[in-house]
Amino acid sequence: MEKDIVQNKISVAPMVDRTDRHFRNFVRMINKDVLMYTEMITAQAIINGNLDYILGFDKIENPIVLQIAATNPEDAYKAVKIAEKYDYDEINLNVGCPSERVSGNMMGASLMAYPEKVAKILEAMKAATKKTVSIKHRIGIDGRKILPDALSKKVFDTYEDMKNFVEIIRKVGIKKFIIHARIAVLAGLDTKQNREVPPLRYDEVYKIKKEIPDLYVEINGGIKTAEQIDNHLKEVDAVMIGRQIYDNPMILTKFGKYYGKKIEVTREEIIERMIKYVEKMELEGIRPHLFLRHTHGLFFGQRGSKFWKRAINDPKAGSFVLKNLLKELKNERKI
Ligand SMILES: Cc1cc2nc3c(=O)[nH]c(=O)nc-3n(C[C@H](O)[C@H](O)[C@H](O)COP(=O)(O)O)c2cc1C
Repeated sequence: MEKDIVQNKISVAPMVDRTDRHFRNFVRMINKDVLMYTEMITAQAIINGNLDYILGFDKIENPIVLQIAATNPEDAYKAVKIAEKYDYDEINLNVGCPSERVSGNMMGASLMAYPEKVAKILEAMKAATKKTVSIKHRIGIDGRKILPDALSKKVFDTYEDMKNFVEIIRKVGIKKFIIHARIAVLAGLDTKQNREVPPLRYDEVYKIKKEIPDLYVEINGGIKTAEQIDNHLKEVDAVMIGRQIYDNPMILTKFGKYYGKKIEVTREEIIERMIKYVEKMELEGIRPHLFLRHTHGLFFGQRGSKFWKRAINDPKAGSFVLKNLLKELKNERKI
């Protein structure tokens, strides 16, 4: 595998409304090594937006990937050029989102019906940066009732369809493929259902790696345990996990072994780190709720989980609430 690709065994999936800078800082309170993603940001938002607000992040968040959605090469080029001012490690194109708002604009998963167009967008992104440019896509799509009539074929859901797609993308020099192992049904299923209903077909992701070993292949979809990760890593290069990390962030402590270390941080130590972060927010006049809302899973599966959620979900919660919770936790330990 060439050295010019960002390689990291575990990544935290891009998730709109979740993987913002506050959640990413929270992840870093537990694990310093996993690769993180921004939320998906449209090229247009970057071209027209308040850049520091949209693209800014803290050094501690590296290694980090900027994920964009784009409909054409011109916008993609401009957006990536603008993002060059920020220290992202990799730029990723979203070709996996089934949302109609995104698909209706010919972004996200619907682009899988137009591999040549995707190749042009990626080529433009590569021309705008020397960093790794990668793609996140599905194993296929069902575009019936939504793709235009001019397109003779509307369902791209066989392994051969995916291989054809990947082959076309490779030709412009893309080597890193993050593959969500289920198809996206563009009409009839909503975004959430599209992450649950179409069956997972991990074998097809394994197969593409086997047939084209030069590809760097990262598998995604429904991965929940360290044991599952170990099994996937026998077949592909890396694993991407979304919901399980968000819902149960302490799972990040189990990932030290992929980086040759042991992570022994306790919930109490994490709360101490949270207090420092929240105190800084308070000094800067930023509402702590924007951070705390991402930490509801800290006591996942533990006694006291409901209590924790209730306390940090209070829109007025801040460092004071955290300090009290920490005190109670320490007292409880002494009993
Ligand atoms: C709330 C939410 C928002 C998401 N937003 C994005 C996104 O912005 N870009 C993207 O490529 N995928 C997005 N996804 C999909 C995830 O990146 C991932 O592919 C999917 O959740 C399957 O992985 P998992 O089973 O480990 O969660 C989102 C998923 C969720 C749950």
